[in-house]
Amino acid sequence: MKFFVDTAEIDAIAELNDLGMVDGVTTNPSLIKKSGRDIIEVTKEICALVDGPVSAEVTAIDAKTMIAEGRKLLEIADNITVKVPLTWDGLQACKALTDDGHKVNVTLCFSANQALLAAKAGATFISPFIGRLDDINLDGMELIEDIRTIYDNYGFDTEILAASIRSANHVLDCARLGADVITAPPAVIKALVNHPLTDKGLAAFLADIKAADIKIL
Ligand code: G3P
Repeated sequence: MKFFVDTAEIDAIAELNDLGMVDGVTTNPSLIKKSGRDIIEVTKEICALVDGPVSAEVTAIDAKTMIAEGRKLLEIADNITVKVPLTWDGLQACKALTDDGHKVNVTLCFSANQALLAAKAGATFISPFIGRLDDINLDGMELIEDIRTIYDNYGFDTEILAASIRSANHVLDCARLGADVITAPPAVIKALVNHPLTDKGLAAFLADIKAADIKIL
């Protein structure tokens, strides 16, 4: 499973990238706003930092302007993926851009039927939002499972990019269900390392190292 980082914070991306944890980056207007940076400038820096796809989202809601914005975003770097919303216009923009050989991430997916449409429009990635479904007491993981089944039934190449990932359990469930990619905030990715028994075991080892004065260097 690939790990994308869901942030526009350069330092956080760099830290995870140095450890080989970054297969790509996703941004959205809210993350750009949070960064306080110009979208073109910050996206250019991210693209220079990581080798994998970097999703940059359009701001328009009509297909024609989305396509024009997508083409401008694509000028930033070779690893840009244009992100469009899952609307009829977004699907039109997706089809036009993927027909030209570009990568497109169709975002704000909340149903398997939406994911089916995105795949038929040639989407490179579909982004189902797990956490936001959980927020309204719906089952985000059921959506991942349904999309996996449908894409496998018909051999769609569109990759399932599970988004709105909020917890370690979301990551684990996505891995179990066969999501191709998860995109998560840096803190969620870093928290995957935590286990109380690791902390407890290390504390016991450290006590014995001290008691026996064990030295290597
Ligand atoms: O990038 C889109 C998605 O990951 C946002 O997550 O936590 O704002 O629902 P969240």
